[in-house]
Amino acid sequence: MLFEPFRIKGVTFANRILRSSMGGRTAYYDGTVSPAWVHFERRFAKGGVAGLISPTISVNEARQSPLEYPSLHDDRFIGPLRDAVREIKAGGRGKDECRYIVQIGDTGAHTHTSLRPQDADQMSASAFFDFQYGYPNSARAMSLDEIQSTVGDFARAAHRVVAAECDGIEVTASKGYLIHQFLNPLTNRRTDRYGGSVDNRFQLLDDIVRAVRKAVGADFLFGVRLSARDFNNSPLSLRFPLVWPPPPWRAWIGNDLAETTRYARKLEELGVDYLHIDSGFGFPNPHGSPGGFPDEAVVVTFNAYRFLSRKARMRAQIFNVFPAWARKKIFGGAWRFKPAANADFAAAIRQAVSIPVIANGGFQDRDVIDGALKSGKCDLVAIARPLLANPDLLDQFNAGANTPANPCSFCSLCCASTAIFPLGCYDQNRFETPERMMNQILAWCSPNAPFGVKDGGRIDGDGKHPALVQ
Ligand SMILES: Cc1cc2nc3c(=O)[nH]c(=O)nc-3n(C[C@H](O)[C@H](O)[C@H](O)COP(=O)(O)O)c2cc1C
Ligand code: SF4
Repeated sequence: MLFEPFRIKGVTFANRILRSSMGGRTAYYDGTVSPAWVHFERRFAKGGVAGLISPTISVNEARQSPLEYPSLHDDRFIGPLRDAVREIKAGGRGKDECRYIVQIGDTGAHTHTSLRPQDADQMSASAFFDFQYGYPNSARAMSLDEIQSTVGDFARAAHRVVAAECDGIEVTASKGYLIHQFLNPLTNRRTDRYGGSVDNRFQLLDDIVRAVRKAVGADFLFGVRLSARDFNNSPLSLRFPLVWPPPPWRAWIGNDLAETTRYARKLEELGVDYLHIDSGFGFPNPHGSPGGFPDEAVVVTFNAYRFLSRKARMRAQIFNVFPAWARKKIFGGAWRFKPAANADFAAAIRQAVSIPVIANGGFQDRDVIDGALKSGKCDLVAIARPLLANPDLLDQFNAGANTPANPCSFCSLCCASTAIFPLGCYDQNRFETPERMMNQILAWCSPNAPFGVKDGGRIDGDGKHPALVQ
C-alpha cells in the first residue's frame, strides 16, 4: 500500500511516504537557502519519496532559530526559494514525482539560540520558566499588538510560499513552538481572548489559519502540524508558570486527545486540507522523536549556548557536573523507542475528521508503515531519521527488504546536533570508521563529496559524538 498514490486537494502524491521536516545550518546567515540546502533536500527527492516537508522556515525576522535555518520574513527570499524548489523537484523521479511543501513557524520562547540575547526570543503566550528548551531565563507574555503582528508575519510568509511555486504550505502548531505555547494550558495563562478556555487558547491558531488561507487562496494545499498530546508531565518536561496560585492539575498534563480532537475539527471547519500528527512539547522531545536520549549531543549543544543567559549557563553547568550515566538516568527517563509512536493518536484524530491525516514518528520498517496505512490509522506517513540514515529506503523496500540493511538506531543524536553541527547521521556504530561517518555528514551538505577526511580505520573516543572525541 505504501507505493499507492494519494491525492490531497489538487496535489497527487506518488506514494505514501513524505520526508518529514529536517533542517540545520544549511542556509546562508541571513536565511537565504543555499546550494548546501538544495543538495541536502535533493537527495531525498532522488530517493523517491512522494514529497518533502521543509524544515521549519521562520516567519519572524528576529527569531531565526536555529541559526542558518532558512527564513521567509522578506520578499527577497522568494526568488532563491523558487529556484531551489525547482532544482529539488527536478531531482525526483519524474515530473511532479516529488512534491515540495514548505512548513512555516515561529519558535517563540523556545528559540534555541541567537547571536546575542534579545527580548524577541522571550515572547510567548505567558510568562513561564522552562529548563530544557529555549535559552532565555524566562518567557514573557506577548501584547495584543505583538500577536497581530505575528499573524501578519505568517500571512506574508504564506504569500511568499505561493510566489515561490511550492506545492503546499504547512503551519506548525507543534514542537512547543509559539502557536503550541498558546495551545498548551501550562504555558498559556492569559486572561484575554487568547487564553483561558480550550477555545480561547486556539484563538492564535484560528487567526493564523484564516490569514494564511486568505494569503494562499482557496485552492492551495494547506496543512497544519499538531501535537496530539502535550505530555507536560513527562519527567523534566515541566514548565513552571510564573503565576500564583499555580494552575490546576489538568494544566500540568497539557492538552490530551480530547482537546486536540476538538482543535482538529475546528481546523477542518476552517478549511485546512490535512493534519500532520506528532506528539510532545518541545524539540527534540521523547514523544515526537521516539528513541534514545541523545546525551552527548545535548551536552555539546547546551555548552555552545551557555553564553546567552544565566539559565543557559546553569543548565550547561548541571550537565557538565553529572557523569554521562547519571545524566542518562536523570534526564533520559522518558526516552525510548516506540515504532509508529503517534499512529494511534493519528487514528483517533482521523476518526473525528474527514480530511487526510499524516502520522509522524518512529516509522522505519515496511510492515509497520504498511500496517498503519492498511489499518486506516493514517493516509500518509512522514519520516525523518530513517531517511537520513538510508536515503534509499524506498529502493530497499522495493528490493524486498522489510528493515533497511544498516537501519537507523533512533539514537536521536542527529536531532540534538542539528542546531550546532552539520546535518547527517551521528551514530558512529553505523559506520566502520569515524572517518566514514564524517564523510557521510559532509556528503549530505555538499555535492563535492568524497572529501579528504582520510580513512584511518580506527574508532577513536569509544564511539562518542565527534565533538567529544579528544
Ligand atoms: C536533524 C533533524 C532536524 C529536524 N528539524 C525539524 C524542523 O525543522 N521542524 C520540525 O517540525 N521537525 C523537525 N524535526 C523532527 C522530524 O520532522 C520528525 O518529526 C522527528 O524526527 C520524528 O520522526 P522520525 O522518527 O521519522 O525521525 C527534525 C528532526 C531531525 C532528525
Ligand atoms: S544519528 Fe543516525 S542512527 Fe541516530 S537517529 Fe539520527 S539518523 Fe538515526
